[in-house]
Amino acid sequence: MLGKRILLIVGGGISAYKIPQLIRLIRAEGALVTPVLTAAGAQFTTPMTLSVLAGEPVHDTLWDRNSEAEIGHIQLSRNADLVVVAPATADMMAKMAQGQANDLASTLLLATDKRVLIAPAMNVRMWDHPATQRNLATLHGDGILTVGPDSGDMACGEYGAGRMAEPEAIVTAIRDALLPKRPLAGRHVIVTSGPTHEPIDPVRYIANRSSGAQGAAIAVALRDLGARVSFVTGPAAVPAPSGVRVIAVETARQMRDAVQAALPADAAVMAAAVADWHVVGASDRKIKKDGSGQPPALEMAENPDILAWISRADDRPDLVVGFAAETNDVIANATAKRLRKGCDWIMANDVSPATGIMGGTENAVTLISDTGPEEWPRMGKDDVAARLAERIADHLNGKTT
Ligand code: CTP
Repeated sequence: MLGKRILLIVGGGISAYKIPQLIRLIRAEGALVTPVLTAAGAQFTTPMTLSVLAGEPVHDTLWDRNSEAEIGHIQLSRNADLVVVAPATADMMAKMAQGQANDLASTLLLATDKRVLIAPAMNVRMWDHPATQRNLATLHGDGILTVGPDSGDMACGEYGAGRMAEPEAIVTAIRDALLPKRPLAGRHVIVTSGPTHEPIDPVRYIANRSSGAQGAAIAVALRDLGARVSFVTGPAAVPAPSGVRVIAVETARQMRDAVQAALPADAAVMAAAVADWHVVGASDRKIKKDGSGQPPALEMAENPDILAWISRADDRPDLVVGFAAETNDVIANATAKRLRKGCDWIMANDVSPATGIMGGTENAVTLISDTGPEEWPRMGKDDVAARLAERIADHLNGKTT
């Protein structure tokens, strides 16, 4: 952390009394602290305390003519290596989630091009409130990092989640944020995602309900660990992520060709819901009713199985991961599927309608490898993706079997 500059925004919560200690710990690591105090924060700690400990003046107003002439709020937020908000109140989180900029702190947060780490602190009911949880999800989606809150006795006399993380834990999170882990740097991973569309004629196609959300989340998680990602996607409902190479395809056959062209790779994650069949000789004209009352006969042929093919390809990636979307006998079917397709891992999930997984935001996965099934708790698709990306990194770096 030596020489790194932390822009520390102090919000209005009782836990602001821990901020002087936080500043001491950050400075002990050799980092510099630029303190910013909100009006509410000034009710709990003083500008004098912060500036003496930081060894720098405190910034507390958007309308400081000297400061605006010398540095300006844009500059202030860009000069930092990391922006930390502690304590981050419910109000501050709401403002951040909405992109408001009506005081110095919120303006800096909107103007910054650096990573932002927040240490939420509030009453347990405020923390549990759907509005706060909604804001938290938005902030996570925006790439904002969080540390805490902890659970325990609160200053207000209640008990539960909402206590600001201890200064030591905040410093650890700052260290992690400044030195992001990039265990997949230099690695290439192919991810397939979304449904495929198999044309019947120029206006009709056969498709499935895959949204592409899980595949997109996996691409993001791999990217964030430093991988170069080739994202081969069918026509998905969710947008393709940024920072990855997007190869948009429509049919299973195009997807196979795109995967082949993207090789070689260190790993491949086949998260696409590939159609099993295509219509033979799809008409290049719209098929019309012929007046007989008989529907047209569609001849179907099997699509290439991309997962089975890549698992046995000459330039097979070191690690091939497939998904098994099952509606019954999930583990048994997925275990058999892993052997049949020849992949290393299968992410088995139950997509029966009652689970709400297909098209939903959560997933319940069992990872099946040669050591057997490992059940993961039901969690958000982003968390499944992050966990899978970590496992892939560990595997490629020789940390697991
Ligand atoms: N898959 C693929 N190419 C196909 C079909 C499936 O690459 N033509 C991949 C999917 O991306 C997924 C895995 O195979 O990783 C399993 O998909 P799933 O639809 O569950 O299996 P199926 O092959 O359709 O098997 P079954 O018909 O037995 O369900």
